[in-house]
Amino acid sequence: MSAALENAPSSPAAPAAATPAAIELRGLTKDFPVGLRGVKLRAVDNLTLSVPAGQVFGLLGPNGSGKSTTIKLVLGLLDPTAGECRVVGVPSTRVESRRNVGYLPEAPYFYRYLSGAELVRFYARVCGVPRAKLDARVKEVIEWVGLTGAAGRRVGTYSKGMLQRIGLAQALVHDPRLVILDEPTAGVDPAGSADISAMILRLKSEGRTVLITSHLLAQIEDVCDRIAILDKGRLILEGAVAELVGRRDRQALIVEALSPGELAELRAWRAARGRALESVEQPRARLDEVFLREVARAESGRKEGGP
Ligand SMILES: Nc1ncnc2c1ncn2[C@@H]1O[C@H](COP(=O)(O)OP(=O)(O)OP(=O)(O)O)[C@@H](O)[C@H]1O
Ligand SMILES: [Mg+2]
Repeated sequence: MSAALENAPSSPAAPAAATPAAIELRGLTKDFPVGLRGVKLRAVDNLTLSVPAGQVFGLLGPNGSGKSTTIKLVLGLLDPTAGECRVVGVPSTRVESRRNVGYLPEAPYFYRYLSGAELVRFYARVCGVPRAKLDARVKEVIEWVGLTGAAGRRVGTYSKGMLQRIGLAQALVHDPRLVILDEPTAGVDPAGSADISAMILRLKSEGRTVLITSHLLAQIEDVCDRIAILDKGRLILEGAVAELVGRRDRQALIVEALSPGELAELRAWRAARGRALESVEQPRARLDEVFLREVARAESGRKEGGP
């Protein structure tokens, strides 16, 4: 987006211990009063978690598991019932902890009569972007999210995908080091989701930390370095994606035009070594590949004056 962003250092190679965690949660707990007689609902339950700087971190869990509440605690929008939360070492209860944080809320409400550019400009001013840099920064960030052609249109006329992009632009306008995206691809089509994944990886390559929630696990797997899974507010799993999904005790081979005779030979060859050939499957294209290929074909057909 800006020159400063393009030139930002890439992820630090130093060991995690040398750099403070971007987010540090210790015993974080949040109760909401629900109903009469002081009945409480524990939305976040004794959560201890660390989000390393310079990584993409996925916060996962079923609906109602406490992801958005955790994010609001990190942002200081809610006060914890117990425990603590620090952003780059600064407690979330202090205003300065938010200075370097960009936030895309789930289901953001944007004033629909503003144009995309006016909306981003409004957030830029709220976040203290210097007046002299306002116009250039707004233009850059709108270009960065691919909305230049629609910047003058009212936000009320935007599609869901465009709303998420303008939401991303407002989250990034003040050049934050930590970017928190609560379901950035909710309701976005596969091509738009792939664009948002690419943007997330670009944010990481610029040295930023990204905390993301999403129910699209394939997307999470592609962009995240680490994930945590919550269930009823409790941490049930945390770790590096590569370690969680990698199976070093199995290998897959893709071969062309294997005949039944050759397959039998392969089985016999493995059996002679006391090992089984565990499964033979017909590889299938993923539906998103088919979707992206066909949409691209239709669009290039239109450009060439085809039907
Ligand atoms: N302001 C509130 N008052 C009362 N209960 C709340 C409030 N905000 C959230 N909750 C409850 O806290 C629990 C966690 O909600 P939260 O929104 O954090 O879940 P989530 O993991 O983000 O879910 P989703 O995937 O649907 O976005 C839910 O049971 C929810 O109903
Ligand atoms: Mg949520």
